[in-house]
Amino acid sequence: MTNARTNVRTKKRDNAISLSNAEFSFICAFVYDSTGIVLNEGKREMLYRRLTRIIRERNLDNFSSYCDLLKSQPDKERDFFINAITTNLTSFFREQHHFDYMTEHELPRIIKNGAANGKKLRIWSSASSTGEEPYSIAMTVYEAMKAVSTQWNIKLLATDIDSDVLAKGKSGIYEAKRIEDIPTKLKDKFFKQGSGSNKNNVKVSQELQSLITFKQLNLLHEWPMKGPFDIIFCRNVIIYFDKKTQQELFERYYEILKPGGLLMLGHSENLGQYQKYFENVGRTIFRKPL
Ligand SMILES: C[S@@+](CC[C@H](N)C(=O)[O-])C[C@H]1O[C@@H](n2cnc3c(N)ncnc32)[C@H](O)[C@@H]1O
Repeated sequence: MTNARTNVRTKKRDNAISLSNAEFSFICAFVYDSTGIVLNEGKREMLYRRLTRIIRERNLDNFSSYCDLLKSQPDKERDFFINAITTNLTSFFREQHHFDYMTEHELPRIIKNGAANGKKLRIWSSASSTGEEPYSIAMTVYEAMKAVSTQWNIKLLATDIDSDVLAKGKSGIYEAKRIEDIPTKLKDKFFKQGSGSNKNNVKVSQELQSLITFKQLNLLHEWPMKGPFDIIFCRNVIIYFDKKTQQELFERYYEILKPGGLLMLGHSENLGQYQKYFENVGRTIFRKPL
C-alpha cells in the first residue's frame, strides 16, 4: 500500500508536465486580462516554472486541469496566479537620481510653496513591490523635511497588484544584506537590527512606517483615491504593458497629478506620444505643467 502511494506521488513529481501551445495562449490571455502584462514566447520558460509550482500545490496533473480550474473559478484563483507571475525585482534607492532630484530640487520647491499647498504632501508609489521604493521615498522626505515636518501633513500611498509583496512591504522586515548599500547614517536612523532567530533581519522604524499606507490596487482598474499627488512613482511596471495600456495609464496619471507635480518612470521607460503633455526635467523625470 505505502509503496504504491509513494510510487504514484514520485511519478507525479518526476513526470515532466507539458505545456501545449493552446494552454500557453490561454494563460497569456488570462495574464493580459487580469494584469495588462503582455507575455511572449520568450517568457514561456518563466511561466512554466512559476505555474508548475501552483499545479503541484493544487495536486493537479497537468496544465490542462489548471486551465480548467482558471476557467471554472477565475476569481478564487486569480490572486495566487497573479502573485506567481509578477516580477517583483526592486531595491532600496534603486535609480538614485530620482531621490537626489527630490532632495535637491523638488522637496525644497514644495516646502517653499507650502502655504499655497496647505502644507500637504502626497506621494504615490504605484507599483511598490516589496516596499523598498516607498521606504526610500519616506527616508528622502523625512531627511529633507525634518525641520518642518511637524507643520506638514505628509502621506505616502504604496500600491501593487500582488498581495504577497504588499504583505512583505507592510511588515517592514528585510534581510540585513538588502540594506548594505544604504548610507550608514540612514541605516542607523531608520532600521533596527533583529535578534535571536531574526538576527539576519532588520526592521524599518515606526516613524517611516507611519507615513505609508500599503493597499492592493490593479492599475488597470478604477483608482479609488482622488489625489491630487505631488509626486508619482511609476517605475519598472509599464514596461510589461502594451502601448495602448501605457497611453491610457499616462492619461490617468496626468489627471491625478497636481499641476506642477512630478511623474517618475523607470530607467528604460518613456512617455511615448504622451511626452508632449509633460516637461522633461531630468532623467526619466516628467513635470505636469502648471
Ligand atoms: C519590477 S517591480 C517594480 C518595483 C519598483 N517600482 C521598482 O522600480 O523598484 C514591478 C511591480 O509591478 C507590479 N504590477 C504588475 N502589474 C501590475 C498592475 N496591473 N497593477 C499594479 N501593479 C502591477 C508587480 O506586482 C511588481 O511588484
